Amino acid sequence: MRGNPHPHNFQIHMNESLPESLSHQSEGELLSQLDLELLPRHLAIIMDGNGRWASLRGLPRIAGHREGLAALREALNTAFDLGIPILTIYAFSHENWNRPEDEVSLLMELLGEFLHEEQQTFQEREMRFLPIGRLDALPPLAQSLVHIVAEETHHFTKRVLAVALSYGGRWEIIDAINHLFSDIQSGKIASGPISETLFEQYLTTSELPDPDLLIRTSGEARISNFLLWQIAYTELYFTKTLWPDFRRREVLLALLDYQRRERRFGRISHAVTPQSES
Ligand code: IPE
Ligand code: IPE
Ligand code: MG
Repeated sequence: MRGNPHPHNFQIHMNESLPESLSHQSEGELLSQLDLELLPRHLAIIMDGNGRWASLRGLPRIAGHREGLAALREALNTAFDLGIPILTIYAFSHENWNRPEDEVSLLMELLGEFLHEEQQTFQEREMRFLPIGRLDALPPLAQSLVHIVAEETHHFTKRVLAVALSYGGRWEIIDAINHLFSDIQSGKIASGPISETLFEQYLTTSELPDPDLLIRTSGEARISNFLLWQIAYTELYFTKTLWPDFRRREVLLALLDYQRRERRFGRISHAVTPQSES
C-alpha cells in the first residue's frame, strides 16, 4: 500500500489559509467545495480534549470520553463515506498509563464497548481493524477482543482503521530496531546497510502508506509521541475544537484546509517557474 499517494497535489495549491467565511457555511456548501479526487489517502487523528470538554460542563472526565466515542463514530463515517480508505487514530498512548487507575480502566471498558458494537460495522464496511502499539500491555479482556476483531477483519483491504493502543512512537522505533537486529543475528536478513524501505517493514504501520494529513484537536500543537517516523512529510492540522465537538463539519473544514496546501516534498513551488524566478 506504500507509495506517493497524490503526485498531482503538486500542481494545485498555494497555501492560502482557509477563508473565515467558510466557518459560517453549511455542511452542504462545504461539501460542494471539496475535491473528492484530492482527499488524503491516509488520515491520522490525535483525538484530544475529552477531559476538558467534560470539565467545562461540570461532568466527570469519562463523560468526555463517552462523547468522544460518538465523535469518533461520526468522523469515521464521514471519512469513509467520502472515500478516504485509511484512518489511524490515537486512542491510548504509552504515556496514558500514567493516568489515574479508574480513568484507565474506564477507557479500557470503552475500547471493549467500541469494538463490540462496531464488530458488525467492520464486516459491513469491509473494514480492517489494525491495532498498533504494545498490545501485550492491555488488560487480558481488551487484549483478546482486540485480537479477535483484528483476526476477523484481517482479510479486508478496501478500508483500514488503525487504532493506536498503548502506543508510543519512540517505542515503535526501538521495537523495530530490536526486531531487525535479531533478524540480522539469526541470518534471516543479510547484514549490510539498512535502507529506509527495509526499516519501515518493521514498523507497526508497515502495510500502510504514510499519513497525508494529521489532525490534532483541542488546541495543543504537539505530536505527543504519535507516528514519529511516519509523519516526516505529513500535513499537520491543529484546531482548538475539543474532540467531542469535532463533528462532520469539522472534518470537512480540515479536509478543505488540506486541499489548499501545496505539498512540495523539498522541491520548489510549482508556481515558481524558471521565468518567474529570474
Ligand atoms: C483525549 O482526551 C483522550 C485520551 C488521551 C485517551 P484527554 O483525556 O487527553 O482530554 P484532555 O486533554 O485532558 O482535555
Ligand atoms: C495524546 O493525548 C494521546 C491521545 C490522544 C490518545 P494526551 O492528552 O495524552 O497528550 P498530552 O499529554 O497532552 O501531550
Ligand atoms: Mg489530552
